[in-house]
Amino acid sequence: MEHYFENIIGKSKALRDLLEMVKKVAPTQSTVLITGESGSGKELIAHAIHSHSDRRDKFFLPVNCGALPETLLESLLFGHMKGSFTGAFANQEGLFERARGGTIFLDEIGEIPQHLQVKLLRVLEAREILSIGSTTPRKVDVRVLAATNRDLGRDVEQGRFRDDLYFRLNVMEIHIPALRERPEDIPLLVEYLIQKHNPELKRNFKGAEPAVIHTLMSLPWKGNVRELDNVLEHTMILAEGDWIRLDDLPPSLFGGKESLPVYTPNLKEALKRFEKQHLIRVLEQVGQDRKEAARLLDISLSSLYRKIEEFGIA
Ligand SMILES: Nc1ncnc2c1ncn2[C@@H]1O[C@H](COP(=O)(O)OP(=O)(O)OP(=O)(O)O)[C@@H](O)[C@H]1O
Ligand SMILES: [Mg+2]
Repeated sequence: MEHYFENIIGKSKALRDLLEMVKKVAPTQSTVLITGESGSGKELIAHAIHSHSDRRDKFFLPVNCGALPETLLESLLFGHMKGSFTGAFANQEGLFERARGGTIFLDEIGEIPQHLQVKLLRVLEAREILSIGSTTPRKVDVRVLAATNRDLGRDVEQGRFRDDLYFRLNVMEIHIPALRERPEDIPLLVEYLIQKHNPELKRNFKGAEPAVIHTLMSLPWKGNVRELDNVLEHTMILAEGDWIRLDDLPPSLFGGKESLPVYTPNLKEALKRFEKQHLIRVLEQVGQDRKEAARLLDISLSSLYRKIEEFGIA
């Protein structure tokens, strides 16, 4: 496995299981729905699926479905006929056709408007498209991969996303866990990212000191690997010496209550941190009303005061 996906770094059980799935699904023609938070590696995985399929020598076409107005997106994907709308000066082939045996990657699929959801379902079910302004369906040879950082299941419940399309896309779901759920991948990622940035930045860092790694493993990384990547690049631009030291990390990393440390291997310490975070949340929820907070927490008011004191919650 190590050499199989050489640009996908990590050794956590979660990531290894995921790559095992990728390896199995890649050579098939199946549609895959890749889910995970922003920056967690959805496009990276989509690309890996394509490059381990027999379509690897054909196009891999990523499309951000959230970035374009409806008509443009429809025309981009399905193409249009000359004169079908103002500005349609010539027939234009859509990406589904242009893929020609390749793979299309529909990013932010949750943003696709309702009437395109119907057209997309037709692609998945019949491998057929209808360009704007045309009445003759045409066959396409394309594999569809899709990604979202939304809870599509909930969008379906709330009527924002068609259930028939959801079931079609969801035949195979690959979920990428957030980086904070697999901190054991951080040491390898840090090493990899430092080596990646060294030549670009004309630096020659040997690595990061253990205290740095430990600290990075304890942060919540809302922006996942992309955020880690950016933080390291920023740090490497400013740092001096051969090794990245704790002082080199940007202070903004530690600001704000959003960046409460979430990872430590010590169970007692981990429970304490969770308790503190939980108390802060509940207090916020009730507008700092301590009586109400104690009631919700189902503890006595005096023990709430004791904890507030102990954890230094203002
Ligand atoms: N396991 C990993 N090993 C190496 N690099 C990774 C890994 N996961 C993510 N990356 C890198 O992190 C960056 C973000 O990944 P990617 O663009 O695939 O995320 P995404 O889930 O598509 O994000 P978004 O939801 O914002 O579109 C990329 O530079 C990617 O190469
Ligand atoms: Mg992406």
